[in-house]
Amino acid sequence: MSDKPPAKRSPPCRRKIIVGSIVLLVVIALALSLGLGLGLTLGRDDGGDGDGEEPTLSPLPSPNNTLSWVPKVNDTWQIILSHPPLVSDSVTPDVSIFDIDLFDSPASTIAQLHKLGKKVICYFSAGSYENWRPDAKDFKNDDLGNNLDDWPGEKWINLNSKNVREIMKKRVEMAKQKGCDGVDPDNVDGYENDNGVGLTINDSIEYIRYLSMVTSPLNLTLGLKNAKGIISAVLPLVSFSVNEQCAQYNECNDFQPFIAAGKPVFHIEYPGGEGDISQQIQTYGFGEDTKKKTCTSEGSNGFSTVLKKMNLDGWVEYCNGGIEATSVDEATGGHD
Ligand SMILES: *[C@@H]1O[C@H](CO)[C@@H](O)[C@H](O)[C@H]1NC(C)=O
Ligand SMILES: *[C@@H]1O[C@H](CO)[C@@H](O)[C@H](O)[C@H]1NC(C)=O
Ligand SMILES: *[C@@H]1O[C@H](CO)[C@@H](O)[C@H](O)[C@H]1NC(C)=O
Ligand SMILES: *[C@@H]1O[C@H](CO)[C@@H](O)[C@H](O)[C@H]1NC(C)=O
Repeated sequence: MSDKPPAKRSPPCRRKIIVGSIVLLVVIALALSLGLGLGLTLGRDDGGDGDGEEPTLSPLPSPNNTLSWVPKVNDTWQIILSHPPLVSDSVTPDVSIFDIDLFDSPASTIAQLHKLGKKVICYFSAGSYENWRPDAKDFKNDDLGNNLDDWPGEKWINLNSKNVREIMKKRVEMAKQKGCDGVDPDNVDGYENDNGVGLTINDSIEYIRYLSMVTSPLNLTLGLKNAKGIISAVLPLVSFSVNEQCAQYNECNDFQPFIAAGKPVFHIEYPGGEGDISQQIQTYGFGEDTKKKTCTSEGSNGFSTVLKKMNLDGWVEYCNGGIEATSVDEATGGHD
């Protein structure tokens, strides 16, 4: 059994797509009807993740209700997706938020974290099919697009599919039942990738709006994973960012609108790359130079940064010092 890979980003592919998509300036006016009838204007439809200018997006209206919990800038956190954490009368590290896998984590683990005063964000893939999930059979063939590069068993999915949205609604309801405080829906940036189902930046914006409509009545705090091209459009709908590798790709500045809005950026870097890191690094950390580069990357002021291994196991190094290792339940989670 191998560990579950981390959230997807697939850098080489992603860069290739961007270079390949030199799209002439197209102005698309969208008439959105959310009862409030706000208009949304896209500057261009190249996915908005080019290294040049960002599209100009007017924000979507926020949901009316007040969430019972939202995270704050500088909140401390840990993310573990390989297996559920083992939590007893204490948990290491003593941070305020844990981001863990929705399917793999039992309600009892979440309850125990709550007892210790922690908040729990539950991770699931909202934009890809994962063939090992218990609800995988609910997807229809028509919902599925291209394979995700480097992530065996995963395919991009059609975010406009009613069936896909029903599946995701059930996942959100599961998060509520398990006691999660928020959700971290991954892979909402299919438009940046060779997705095979024609996804555009518009589809991602609409999809975040859909997700906010299902999460907010349940008091589940919604995050935006990566997807820097849609931040200006969906910022009012989301309460935090989970970013991967903005320091590596020199794009932390793009996520500063979150900080300016008083919303945290939970920032992950993988300084060890895709392979396993050495025992030396696991014991002593990535070293001062790497840490400095990662932790003081331009535009990352106010980010809650963690240095992780790509398999997102219990190991973590923090900018302000410590290496920590959360115990995990190796018998649960992971997939072949
Ligand atoms: C939000 O509030 C407005 C104005 O009070 C109301 O018209 C609208 O139906 C509300 N929307 C939701 C989703 O409750
Ligand atoms: C959501 O939280 C608010 C404020 O804490 C509370 O009034 C409301 O009943 C909650 N709704 C649900 C569905 O839990
Ligand atoms: C944007 O997406 C919505 C929902 O999928 C769709 O109704 C609308 O026609 C799209 N607009 C454009 C310009 O593609
Ligand atoms: C977050 O922490 C940084 C670094 O300590 C500090 O400069 C900043 O003011 C803090 N921001 C908030 C909103 O607490």
